[in-house]
Amino acid sequence: MATPVETHDNPLVEGLERLPVHPTTLVIFGATGDLARRKLLPAIYNLAHEGGLPERFNLVGTSRSEMTDEAFANEAGEAIRQFSRRPPDDTVLKELLDGVRYVGGTFDSDAVYEQLGQALDAYDDEAGDPLNRAFYLSTAPEFFPVIVEQLGAHKLQRRDDAEVRVIIEKPFGTTLEEARQLNHRVLRVFRESQVFRIDHYLGKETVQNLMAFRFANGLFEPVWNRNYIDRVEITAAEDLGIGTRAGYYDHAGALRDLVQNHMLQLLCHVAMEPPVHFEANEIRDEKVKVLRAVLKPDPESIDDIAVRAQYAAGTVGGEDVPGYLQEEGVPPDSNTETYAAIRLEIENWRWAAVPFYLRTGKRLARKVTEIAITLKPVPHLAFQQDGSVGVRPNQLILTMQPNEGVSLSLGAKIPGSRMRIRPVNMEFLYGTSFMSQSPEAYERLILDAMRGDATLFTRNDEVEAQWEICDPIVAKWEATPGPLPQYEAGSQGPAEADRLVDDGAHWRAI
Ligand code: BG6
Repeated sequence: MATPVETHDNPLVEGLERLPVHPTTLVIFGATGDLARRKLLPAIYNLAHEGGLPERFNLVGTSRSEMTDEAFANEAGEAIRQFSRRPPDDTVLKELLDGVRYVGGTFDSDAVYEQLGQALDAYDDEAGDPLNRAFYLSTAPEFFPVIVEQLGAHKLQRRDDAEVRVIIEKPFGTTLEEARQLNHRVLRVFRESQVFRIDHYLGKETVQNLMAFRFANGLFEPVWNRNYIDRVEITAAEDLGIGTRAGYYDHAGALRDLVQNHMLQLLCHVAMEPPVHFEANEIRDEKVKVLRAVLKPDPESIDDIAVRAQYAAGTVGGEDVPGYLQEEGVPPDSNTETYAAIRLEIENWRWAAVPFYLRTGKRLARKVTEIAITLKPVPHLAFQQDGSVGVRPNQLILTMQPNEGVSLSLGAKIPGSRMRIRPVNMEFLYGTSFMSQSPEAYERLILDAMRGDATLFTRNDEVEAQWEICDPIVAKWEATPGPLPQYEAGSQGPAEADRLVDDGAHWRAI
């Protein structure tokens, strides 16, 4: 067990320390992969650093390459040194990695699960108690059903005297049909209450703050509906390209990579009804209701509500960068979109006829994830002539990254003898209000999964409802040959996206 290091006054960290987590052995499948190195192992280290891990915590790495426990501990240590959000403390790191185990082999081989079973039993014997077990599937998605079925075949999926949980990374299927089949195969082995499907956006502080914002303040609810809100615009723009992920990305594309999961989750948080209790299934019930109320794209009119494009060469942050088709590993005739914009409507009493615009893209002008809620204009402007020129509808901007915070634009009088108005912003910034660094999404999610709290994970029906919205668009795009419209790297995206927005309005600048 790792000794926590004293930290500055961080309210969330105090929360982590207070809530007990049952002693657990965590098994990471794909432990030498990119996600484990960049996110999972550093997140586990940071939990250890904060004293957030259970009193007894053991780590087992599993992946295809053969190596000793020591070699894995060294690799894990290097990854943590390279990617941890805080420089690691040698004592905490040593205590965390002393005693880690590694099991190498292909994920369909019985030997892997036999060795795994022995390692897990040895940890129980050492503790003198049955420990909870959590299996984290951070592998290529084709192995998800294989691993789950092998865990079942080797009776590692359930125990009478402790909890067993499985954490499944994205993508959860690449179509509705695949997602259904995967759910079916997973749920033949595990109960839904044991399954934790990851959408790392739900672990972000600012996404959770959206619920606090809506449901802990009386100010917003009266206007949070079609009578006052004109439009909702959700943006997840990235300045980076696809890096070394061509193998995955070229089969996914922007719609599957970000819209189907992260962006629809953001939409749910904006649009859901207040749950009666802040409890996993109640929150997920409300989100599913929203997803089911989204008007399903009609295959005949996909072009009216969805735009796709690919980045061409350009300049980002002063650096010349290649276009998508020139990236390493991308076929030169690829029709995979690196930009997607869609216009959705939610058919219910609160939101009928309010457009929800979602857009995401790689290699745009900068990285920004935000939700912009524009209110309807005031019904009558009493100011004379140029007094009215600067009046704009109020906008509430919730920024997830960078500069996490909330800003509300208001019309204010410009000082002076004339009545002239222009928008000013009222701002709340996380950094200055709480003076603390937010934990990484994976820290919160790993801990919640070990605790058995599924609030920030996607339920089976939720994942399928997300696919029901995206499937018709995916199918239409796959059936329509390219080449795709291009946008210059470092730009605001393709001009084609402008045709989605209603007359008079335009996308916010990225
Ligand atoms: C991942 C996508 O789920 O989210 C990536 O696969 C994307 O393509 C990433 O870059 C964005 O996450 P974040 O936390 O940087 O906004």
